[in-house]
Amino acid sequence: MIRTIAAAAFLSALLCTAAGAAPANPSTDRPWLNPALSPDARAEAALAAMTLDEKLRLIFGYSDQALTELSKVPDDIVAPDLKAYVMSHLVKGSAGFVPGVPRLGIPDQTQTDASLGVRNSFLPSTALPSSLGTAASFDPAVARAGGVMIGGEARATGHNTMLSGGVNLAREPRNGRNFEYTGEDPLLAGAMAGALIEGIQSNHIISTIKHYAVNDQETLRTSLDVTISAAAMRQSDLLAFEFAMERGEPGSVMCSYNLINGRWGCENDYLLNTVLKGDWGFKGFVMSDWGAVHSTVGAANNGLDQFTGFCCAADKPWFAPPAIKAALQSGAIPQSRIDDMVTRILWALFAKGPADNPVKVTPIDYAANAAVSQRAAEESLVLLKNDGDLLPLRRVKSIAVIGGNADRGVLAGAGSSDVTPVGGAVIIDNHTFLPSPPLAALKREMPKARISFDAGTDPAVAAALAAQSDVAIVFLNQHLSEGSDHVLELTGNQDALVAAVAKANPRTIVVAETGGAIYMPWVNQVPAILDAFYPGIRGGSAIARTLTGKVNPSGHLPITFPASADQLARPDIAGLGAPDGTPAEVLYDEGAAIGYKWYDVKGYTPLFWFGHGLSYTRFAKSGLAARPDARAIRVSFSIRNVGKRVGKGVAQVYVAPADWKKAGWEAPKRLGAFAKAELKPGQSKVIELTVDPRLLATYEAAGNNWHIRAGEYRLLLGDAANVLPQSVSVTLGDSVWSASAATTAAVVH
Ligand code: BGC
Repeated sequence: MIRTIAAAAFLSALLCTAAGAAPANPSTDRPWLNPALSPDARAEAALAAMTLDEKLRLIFGYSDQALTELSKVPDDIVAPDLKAYVMSHLVKGSAGFVPGVPRLGIPDQTQTDASLGVRNSFLPSTALPSSLGTAASFDPAVARAGGVMIGGEARATGHNTMLSGGVNLAREPRNGRNFEYTGEDPLLAGAMAGALIEGIQSNHIISTIKHYAVNDQETLRTSLDVTISAAAMRQSDLLAFEFAMERGEPGSVMCSYNLINGRWGCENDYLLNTVLKGDWGFKGFVMSDWGAVHSTVGAANNGLDQFTGFCCAADKPWFAPPAIKAALQSGAIPQSRIDDMVTRILWALFAKGPADNPVKVTPIDYAANAAVSQRAAEESLVLLKNDGDLLPLRRVKSIAVIGGNADRGVLAGAGSSDVTPVGGAVIIDNHTFLPSPPLAALKREMPKARISFDAGTDPAVAAALAAQSDVAIVFLNQHLSEGSDHVLELTGNQDALVAAVAKANPRTIVVAETGGAIYMPWVNQVPAILDAFYPGIRGGSAIARTLTGKVNPSGHLPITFPASADQLARPDIAGLGAPDGTPAEVLYDEGAAIGYKWYDVKGYTPLFWFGHGLSYTRFAKSGLAARPDARAIRVSFSIRNVGKRVGKGVAQVYVAPADWKKAGWEAPKRLGAFAKAELKPGQSKVIELTVDPRLLATYEAAGNNWHIRAGEYRLLLGDAANVLPQSVSVTLGDSVWSASAATTAAVVH
C-alpha cells in the first residue's frame, strides 16, 4: 500500500527546487554537466567556472536554526541574497543545508541524519533497528538493504546527503552512542557500516561516514582529548573506518568533536591529511560535526573542507565567508587549498549522483519500508540463553507479559538519530518508543493463548501474575542517548523485577531492549534471554515472531557484555560529572585491545562474548582448510544444519598467532572473516573466505607500514569468540608493505 504523505505537500512547498539543480545539459560551454566525463574532470571544469563567492557558498553549511537566526546576522558577514537563498531552500527540521550554485547547475546539499532513518521532526520516517542491532545480523546484505531503504526515503523527502555511517568502535561500553555504531570489532563494524553506506548511496545521494575519529565517549565530547598511539588507532578505530570506506566509498566524512593527541578532530592534520586523504586516497570532502570547528586557518589548512551545520553565533566568525576571505588575502590559506576544498565537494556531487539525479519529493511506500526494517530486526535479535529449549513457545496456554512498556511500543535511542516514526512516537518518561508493541504482536501470533500484561511497577504484583501463568516474559528497557554516557546497570526496579518474576515462575523469559551491553545479576535465575537491541519500527512483530518460532533467531553479539564493572578498561568515564566544555583527557592505553581482545588479554570471563548467539537449530562445521595467498589467507570449510528447523548459521573465523606477543599483536586473536548461511535441516554449504592481510599485521608508524611477522598462525572456526572448536595452522613469511593505498593492493573484500 502506498500512503502518499501529507508531508509531501509540505515539503514541496519548502523545497521549491529541492536541490537547486538545473537538468544536466552537456555542452561544450558547461562540460561539468556532462555525465560522460569523469567526476574529476567535471569538478575541475566547474571549479574553473566559479567566482570566489560561489566557491565559498559550498564551504559553509547552515543548521536549520538559520530559519530564525540568519536574518539577524549582519549583511557584511552573510550577504543578503545568500541569506534569502538559505532561508527559502533549507528543508525545515532537517540537519543542515549547503547552498549550491544555481547559475552553474550545482545542486544544494540538503542534509539529513542519520543511520537509522531520515530524521526530521516534521516528517514521518521508517526507523531501522539500531545500527548495533543490525550489526548483530552479521550480514552486510541486511545493512545494505536498510541503507537502500533509508536512502530512498531521504531522496523522496528532498534530501541528497545523509549523515549516516556511524562506525566508532564500542571501545567504551558505556558510550551513549554505541547504539548508533556497529560494534567492537574493526572487521565487523567496517563491513556493516560500509554496506549501509553503499546501500544509501545506491539512491544517487551522498552518505557521510562518522565520527572521525576515536570519538568513543559522549561525556565532554567537545572538550575531551584522546591520547592513543598511531599503531593502536590504525589497528582499531581507524581500521574500522578504512574497511567501511573501502566497501561503502562514502562521498563525505564527518570529523568529530573531540581532540585526538592534542589536535581537534576537525583540524587534525594526521587524521585528515596524512591518513584519510593521503594513505587512503579519499577524494570526497570532510565536513565538520555540527559546530565542531575552532578556527579558520587551522581547520582549512589541516584538512577540513566544509564548515558545516552551524548558525549563527557572532563568537564563531570562522563559520562565515569573511574569515576565509581575510585568510586568503593575508596568504594564511592558499587559494589552492580553497580550490581543493571546493573540488572535493564538487567531486562528491558528481561522483555520488546528486548533480545528475536531483532529488524530488515523491510518495513513499511505508508498508514496504517497514517490512525491510522488520527483516533487519528478524536477522538481528540475539538469543543469549535458552536452557531446556524453553523457546520457541509451544503449547502455552497463558502468558504473563511484564514490564518494559511492552504494551506501548519498543524503545529507540535518543539524539540526532531519533527518527519520527510513521504512526507517531510514543513518548514515555521523555523516551521515544516506536509504535510496535510486543504485547499486541504476541496476541496476534498466539490468538489462542491467554496473554495478560502487568507494567512491572510493583515486582510483587508482577510475580503474582507470573505465578498464575504457564510462562512469564519480562521486557527490559535500557535507554541510551547522544550527548551523555550511561551505566550498564538497569535503571529503576528492573533487576528486582526479573528476580521476583523468575522466583515466581521458573519458565521466565527476558527480552531486553538495549542500546548496548547491560549487566544481568539475574542471569542464572532465568532460562531464556533474548536481546532485541532497539529493534526498529516493526520491532514488536520481530520479537513476537522470534519468541513463537516463526523466525529462527540468527543474530550474534557485535559487542562483549561485561560481567561486572571491574572488567572494564577504565573504572570511570573520563570527565564524568564535569560541566560540558571542561577540558579533560583520556588515555587509551588498552590500545587496539578492545572488546573480546581485552577479555582475552586479561583472562576475564565476560557475561557474554562477542559473536555469541543461539539458534533453534544447530550447525556443525567441518573440513576447515587454510592456505596463504600472497599476503592474505584463504579459508574454506563446510557448514551443515544438523537440527530440525530451517535456520541461519553464522560462521566466524578468528586468527591466532602461535605466539601473539612475538607477532606484535594487541591480543591473542582477531576476527578474520565471517559469513552467514541459510540452511534447511540436513543441508550443508561450502564457504570460502579471505582474511585481509591487515588483520594479520601490525602497523608500524616509523615507516608507515603494515608488517606481518613470520611464524605460525592458527585459524579458529566456530560460533563465537569463546567457542572455536575447529582449528588449522598456516605458516606465514615476513611481509612488510606500505599502509598507503596509493602504493599497495592490500584491499581484499
Ligand atoms: C551529531 C552528528 C549529527 C549532527 C547533525 C551532531 O550533534 O554528533 O552525528 O549528524 O549533530 O544533526
